[in-house]
Amino acid sequence: MKLTFAGHSTFIVEQNGHRVIIDPFLSGNPAAVHKPLDLHVEAVLLSHGHGDHTLDAEAIARANDCVIVAPNELANYFGAKGLKAHPMGIGGSRQFEFGRVKFTQAFHSSSVESESGPIYTGMPAGILLTMDGITIYHAGDTGLFGDMKIIGEMAKPDVALLPIGDNFTMGPDDALVAAQWLGAKHVVPMHYDTFGLIAQDAELFVNKVNALGLQGVVLKIGESLDL
Ligand code: NI
Ligand code: MN
Repeated sequence: MKLTFAGHSTFIVEQNGHRVIIDPFLSGNPAAVHKPLDLHVEAVLLSHGHGDHTLDAEAIARANDCVIVAPNELANYFGAKGLKAHPMGIGGSRQFEFGRVKFTQAFHSSSVESESGPIYTGMPAGILLTMDGITIYHAGDTGLFGDMKIIGEMAKPDVALLPIGDNFTMGPDDALVAAQWLGAKHVVPMHYDTFGLIAQDAELFVNKVNALGLQGVVLKIGESLDL
């Protein structure tokens, strides 16, 4: 499996000729190296509605004529735009051609902005994605919660993608606890440095992860982890 960090909380996951993107935020990120319309994917997976996770979902889904997999109300929001959308609920899982998706809880909020204020888009989620026996846990935007222990026990993720930006999500100290509870072999920080409010020292975080006996890795934007 090839896991590519595309900036912020955006990841491209490739395995056996299948390719999906999680939480595409590219055109709004000056540091991004991927162009939304150049991406060839067979699904767009979304954790929640906020613009820094969904900005390029519509463009990518239209360009690829592919499905958007998202929590129920968020999927319906994109479905109403004429896009292919697959709604799921927290705790539900589904086998797709590219792999298995299961939504976990996330403690956050979920909405898209409109001219008349926020449109609520249901529950925010974390995403468990399993392709050929390798499981990625993309925590979405969330604070620390105790059931991450259960996610670790039940899903045994090979990789945990954890927000460390603080303010809107877990900060590095809580993400370190999350890493322990999840017990994933690999831990990749996300949702930091994109804007000033979430500036963090990712290398320091990863050093602390490694001191726990786990394998933390800072992926620069455009870099990949081979699993
Ligand atoms: Ni958010
Ligand atoms: Mn966010």
